[in-house]
Order: sequence, then structure tokens, then C-alpha cells
Amino acid sequence: MVKQRFSTVFLRLKWISADLLASVCHMKRAVCPGSFDPVTFGHLDIIERASAQFDEVVIAVLVNRTKSSMFTVQERMEMITKTTAHLPNIRVDSWSGLLVEYCKSNEIQSIVKGLRAVTDFDYELQMAQVNLQASGVETMFMATAPAHSFLSSSLVKELAHYGGDVSSMVPKIVNEALKARVAESGN
Ligand code: PNS
Repeated sequence: MVKQRFSTVFLRLKWISADLLASVCHMKRAVCPGSFDPVTFGHLDIIERASAQFDEVVIAVLVNRTKSSMFTVQERMEMITKTTAHLPNIRVDSWSGLLVEYCKSNEIQSIVKGLRAVTDFDYELQMAQVNLQASGVETMFMATAPAHSFLSSSLVKELAHYGGDVSSMVPKIVNEALKARVAESGN
């Protein structure tokens, strides 16, 4: 905890680069990767719990080639930055290549993923095994809080598209952004 406080102060004041600090302090750094299109209370629960376990947690907005997106990467990053501002050891970034390459170039030892239900498991296990084999980076699964086990960005977008109320699923700024995007799209 002392190490975390110390490193957070140095990072906030930009007295030292994150990489240098990580090697000097042997910081435990993790990445929470995802499309975050948009960030939900389910994501934020995992991010908050991960931030308590590691010295630094990078939220990396990545491209999932199997999904089309509603928000640009920049918009998604801004929403995450605003909704995680209360967490001192969070950094928000983006990447358009392989996750393991990002981990290698940022000296990240662990990937943190939320598991909602068994339906997530097959795909997540496959990715964790491929990533481990390719790079030695460990994946740690965190059980999603039961209150969020049904929640996904896709579901939120679908509900918002038809005018459904998603205020219990996403932060206020995300809800407003969803309403604006649906109104813009006009269908
Ligand atoms: O929130 P998502 O869409 O479930 O996140 C999936 C994501 C973006 C983390 C995953 O698709 C990913 O890691 N993409 C980057 C490319 C990569 O490394 N793919 C894994 C190789 S098996």
C-alpha cells in the first residue's frame, strides 16, 4: 500500500516515467483489455477491484475484429478516463495490435479479465492459453459481481437503440453519450 501511494504521487506529479518507476519499485502492473464500447458498471467493478490488487492498472481499449463499434476509440477512452478518475493507479490507453505485444512493450505481467458466466469461459480460456503460450503473460480471471452477471456493452447498446432505460447499467455520462449517439443515428 505504501509502495502504491508513493508511486501514485510520483506518477501524478510526472516526476518519473511510468516505466522507470515500474522497474525501480518492482511494481506489479496489470492490463484490463477490452472493447469498452461503451464502458459499463460491470467493467468498472472489475477495474476497481483490479486497482486494489496491483500497483498500476492500464485500461487498454483494443480492437475486437468480430464487433462493430458505436463509439470511436477516443470517445471510449474519454468515458473510461472520466469514470475512473477516483482511482489513483489507473491509466487509460489504446492499442490496435496483439494484446501480448502491448504487454511486452509496456512491461505488463498480468492480464485481468472479468468472467460473467460459463458462456464467457470457453473463449476466454482459449485466449488466455494462446496469450500465455505466445508471451508468458498470465491471465487472471475475476468473478463478475452477481449484480452485473447479465451485463454487456452489446446488451446496453441494443436497449439504448430501442429507447430502453440503461441508467442502472452505465454511468450517467455514458448514458447521455448513448442517448446522443442514438438520436444522431436517427433510427
Ligand atoms: O471487450 P471484448 O470485445 O470482449 O475484448 C476482447 C479483446 C479486445 C480483449 C480481444 O479481442 C483482444 O485481445 N484483441 C486484441 C488482439 C489479440 O491480441 N487477440 C487475441 C489473440 S488470441
